[in-house]
Amino acid sequence: MEKFIVEGGCPLEGEVTISGAKNAAVAIIPATILSQDVCVIENIPNISDVTVLFQILKGLGVKIRIIDRNTVEFDATQIKEPVVPYELARYMRASYYLLGTLLTRCGRASVAMPGGCDFGVRPIDQHMKGFEALGATVTIEPGGMINARADMLLGAHIYFDMVSVGATINVMLAAVKAKGVTILENCAKEPHIVDLANFLNSMGADIRGAGTDVIKIHGVDILHGTSYSIIPDQIEAGTYMVAAAATGGDVLIKNVIPKHLEAITEKLEKAGAQVTEFDDSIRVSRTGPLKRVNLKTMPHPGFPTDMQPQMTAMLALAEGTSIITEGVWDHRFRYVEELRRMGALIQVDGKVAVVEGAPRLSGAPVRAVDLRGGAAMLIAAMTADGITEIEDIEYIERGYEDIVEKLRGLGAHIQKRVVPDGAAFREAL
Ligand code: EPU
Repeated sequence: MEKFIVEGGCPLEGEVTISGAKNAAVAIIPATILSQDVCVIENIPNISDVTVLFQILKGLGVKIRIIDRNTVEFDATQIKEPVVPYELARYMRASYYLLGTLLTRCGRASVAMPGGCDFGVRPIDQHMKGFEALGATVTIEPGGMINARADMLLGAHIYFDMVSVGATINVMLAAVKAKGVTILENCAKEPHIVDLANFLNSMGADIRGAGTDVIKIHGVDILHGTSYSIIPDQIEAGTYMVAAAATGGDVLIKNVIPKHLEAITEKLEKAGAQVTEFDDSIRVSRTGPLKRVNLKTMPHPGFPTDMQPQMTAMLALAEGTSIITEGVWDHRFRYVEELRRMGALIQVDGKVAVVEGAPRLSGAPVRAVDLRGGAAMLIAAMTADGITEIEDIEYIERGYEDIVEKLRGLGAHIQKRVVPDGAAFREAL
């Protein structure tokens, strides 16, 4: 078992460079199989979710050549049986993008129900509705295998019942070569949706409107190979912004798209931080007290749900009471229990957390309950008095490249330590 050991009380200072966007990478990598040519993708984040995807693609027969740490060549000339087994799909949510891509590439796909962070029920009815509208038959086996099949995919007019990042992406992937025109309405508008559309268009697709509510796709016969660089990670950037503000530091965050960070910038300024935008970097500092802020998470361009835990950790130290409303997921406050161990004064009632600012947090043994909940624990730990030990850090490593090195570069006192788990410890005795 591995843990992060963090000694708090050190303001973050210096520069940090943001990696490629996880949620764009996990859509673009499966999309490389839509072409029988070679695709070279740059700025791929070196994180465990990506490693799992590489294993899934290798199992499908894709040849993967690592050109350098963040640049990878995908050769999907040959695809084997279009099946993604549970052993691999269970590690990540985005494995379900193989349903859309394999359906387009092979006319059929069998993908085990995906895993990912636990925020309560995570239905995929909108993905299935979209595939069916395009002419596919979709069934779910009792063991959780999702089977999709279509002799021919035909363009259709699809209105999503709710705004879903995953459904917008998956149906776009299935429609890109469907015969005729597909119109998707009530689409998600996150930056990674635009990035995927740009990637597909660079392969010869005809997709317009990504980043708005309505996406129009003219199906094309062939997609060719391409070279493409993934956008910077909005949420990784936001996490370092909040960490800088929470610790009372001064950090220049490089390789960002400031436009993607506006909702976060606005809340940080209200909380008393100074934020200065440059062309492709952003500087966050704080000298005065942290102030209370209310926020509600919403689909883009609203405040991102994937930044909610980090903001809550910071506001646990603000003067006054902040109200945090989760507008996307039913259960995204599981990490609050861990923050309470550190002295945070937070009450949760359903999708609302009432955060009463405490004068200080104290180091404690805690765990990462999911990826962003884990990031919240790191932020809390860096502001706390004393030492915090964070368990279950594999959640954090799913989505943050080189987090220990990056935080150390900013002056944080953090170490990753291997500790014997219960069984190994007993054996050692
Ligand atoms: N929903 C349905 N039916 C569907 C699909 C979604 O009811 O068919 C509901 C969900 O239950 C949820 C809401 O719609 O209440 C939004 O879900 P969405 O489909 O947008 O989420 P997702 O695609 O599963 C992605 C990110 C998440 C991020 C959400 C929201 C990836 C791989 N994951 O999930 O990222 O929280 O969008 O922005 O892109 C993370 O990076 O930590 C993370 C969890």
